[in-house]
Amino acid sequence: MKNLQHYDFSKRFDDVPLVGSAFSGEHPGMIPLAFGFPYPKSFPIDALVESATGALKSEGTQALQYSGGPGQQRILEWIRQRSQLRAIQVNTDQIMITSGSNQGIDLVARTLTDPGDSVWVEAPVYFGALRAFYLAENQLSAFPVDGDGLRVDLVESALIEAAAGKRPMPKFIYVLPNYHNPAGIRLSVERRRKLAQLAYAYNVYIVEDDAYVELNFTGEFWPSIYSFGPERVIYLSTFSKIVAPGIRMAWVICQNPDVLSKMKIIKTEGLTSVLMQEIVSDYLEKNDFENHLEPLITGYRMRRDVMVEAIHEFFGDEVSFEKPEGGFFLWLTFPTKTDTTRLLHESVKVGVSFVDGKAFYLHGKPTNDLRLAFSFCDEITIREGIQKLAAVYKKQKYFIR
Ligand SMILES: Cc1ncc(COP(=O)(O)O)c(C=O)c1O
Repeated sequence: MKNLQHYDFSKRFDDVPLVGSAFSGEHPGMIPLAFGFPYPKSFPIDALVESATGALKSEGTQALQYSGGPGQQRILEWIRQRSQLRAIQVNTDQIMITSGSNQGIDLVARTLTDPGDSVWVEAPVYFGALRAFYLAENQLSAFPVDGDGLRVDLVESALIEAAAGKRPMPKFIYVLPNYHNPAGIRLSVERRRKLAQLAYAYNVYIVEDDAYVELNFTGEFWPSIYSFGPERVIYLSTFSKIVAPGIRMAWVICQNPDVLSKMKIIKTEGLTSVLMQEIVSDYLEKNDFENHLEPLITGYRMRRDVMVEAIHEFFGDEVSFEKPEGGFFLWLTFPTKTDTTRLLHESVKVGVSFVDGKAFYLHGKPTNDLRLAFSFCDEITIREGIQKLAAVYKKQKYFIR
């Protein structure tokens, strides 16, 4: 024990923020509009209990073996077929199961980049991806989004500069095309096509993180970026938002066998829980997926509607936002000088949490925007949360000092 006092941990990553867990479970009574979590009733508990029994009984020792049973192949086949809805034509050997999409993002970063390599992201950007890129010691540049997603015109100008040697060429560009976390927007089809063209023209990869694609409130699916550039796009999606995040199952689609096999080498845990793959595969086989999805979409759409109405009612014209057509999040923009980090400090005192904008930018400075999750709380609680938040804001507008 004495020796442990002198144990020196790595100091390399002292300043990497851990945002996601910031509010989890620690504040009884808090209305957690910070939580980008599925609502608890969305989990198919009884059916998963049945599938766990089913998988263990029918696959027996195989399901518990290192190699797993037939479920793994069935999952890949399910993903292959489902991907066709996004205009993704793929073979099962081009799909890799990962322990959550976060692991997929990490593997992509560590496979495609060396420390110091340039990676381009959106502003705002999902903080989990930022963490992976910081840990991979990438040099990051960010490009703004508008109502149609990433400003691909600005990306193109920057690629022209990079080709002229005026800035580093990125190894890849990380993009969230559907129901952006945190911005709630979709990337227009025109911009998807253009981005894929740029990826070919400048020989960069696009990493397409499609975590929320299934939670579509309009019923209208748009083709993936991958569909416009299969050789240049690495596509990621996850079961976290459509079955449960606790199962930690997601996937990466990559056409290039060399890149895929490097990712498998870097994935030192080996296979993602084969037992869980057997269980989920049993679940997907026994349950109609559209029937499973329908109540989830209805549940999220209702929550979105309540949040949108409450913002109109309690904030009036003070704030602006794009109404999300799917996913979990609504991105709220306040008048320019508002400091949402200060607003957050006050808001948690009255029992409402959100994620302040600064978590989603590279500069780490206070901003006038914030992320609200409508995914976790029920409708009554969402309304109450927005009412309390608006009251805090109106009492004293928290301006940047
Ligand atoms: C955009 C995005 N990508 C990836 C993830 C990670 O998902 P997983 O649970 O599959 O690791 C999340 C989770 O919040 C997310 O919002």
